[in-house]
Amino acid sequence: MSKVISVVSPKGGVGKTTTALNVGSALSLHNNKKVLLIDANLSSPSVGLHLGVINPDATLQDVLANKVDVNDAVYKINTGLYIMPAAFLSKKVNPFTLRQRINKIKEFFDFVLIDTSPTLTNSTISSVLASDEVLVVSNSDYLGLSSTLRALRLASQKNKPVSGIVLNRFNNHKDELSKAELEEATDMPVIGVIPENKVFKEAISSTTSVVFHKPNSKVSSIYKDIAARLSGTVADKVKVKDRFTALFKRKPKVSKSDVDKLLIENEIK
Ligand SMILES: Nc1ncnc2c1ncn2[C@@H]1O[C@H](COP(=O)(O)OP(=O)(O)O)[C@@H](O)[C@H]1O
Ligand SMILES: [Mg+2]
Repeated sequence: MSKVISVVSPKGGVGKTTTALNVGSALSLHNNKKVLLIDANLSSPSVGLHLGVINPDATLQDVLANKVDVNDAVYKINTGLYIMPAAFLSKKVNPFTLRQRINKIKEFFDFVLIDTSPTLTNSTISSVLASDEVLVVSNSDYLGLSSTLRALRLASQKNKPVSGIVLNRFNNHKDELSKAELEEATDMPVIGVIPENKVFKEAISSTTSVVFHKPNSKVSSIYKDIAARLSGTVADKVKVKDRFTALFKRKPKVSKSDVDKLLIENEIK
């Protein structure tokens, strides 16, 4: 059974794309899940760019416009992670068939994550409607709280359970909203607190996620915990650590070419 989760906040720069990318990477790397990451930020897509898929032949807009079959817009990043990129420049498309398109393909995946745009307009509403759950991303500034509450309200209006909140770009400063305060204000669990960290820039310059770029980093371990929680597995620290250590003993860093070597033949494309 696959689970579809949209990653939502009406605030730009809060870390939706970063969260979708790294949670997706962690689900595939640590939980052996097959993940499809769909870029439904139709105004300013970036999932493809993050992973080195530049100028793809077929995009989500082509799927929504019935120009290509949904399978044709899926690109394989590695054995566990697949993406459906969006086009930068495209004619306006009606996003409300997104759910129907995802239903056609979701059986091939354990998780479908939908990255959304920084608005609560049609493309985000259709992403939420296409989802089983909504993952909300928040920052720690007090003004940003209103965006978080709006995202939660959208989930509730559409009757979608909330997987939790990811508190991103946390600096542990006294003027910031703390995890406890955010939980109190929203009455929702904060399932991960990601610090502000330069490793995100490094990963971007290597066209990969932090989880693939620095699997042993503190930041990656937080995404690992989020992924464990989303996949319903109890994070068995010892077991996960053993497997992790064995996997990377010979490879202290996972580069893009390391990941490419893991490619298998059963592509769905
Ligand atoms: N925890 C973090 N620490 C440092 N930089 C971050 C962090 N999270 C996101 N960023 C950076 O902030 C920018 C905006 O993040 P992004 O995920 O694109 O936000 P959104 O999708 O919500 O607009 C990107 O350059 C990203 O690399
Ligand atoms: Mg984004």
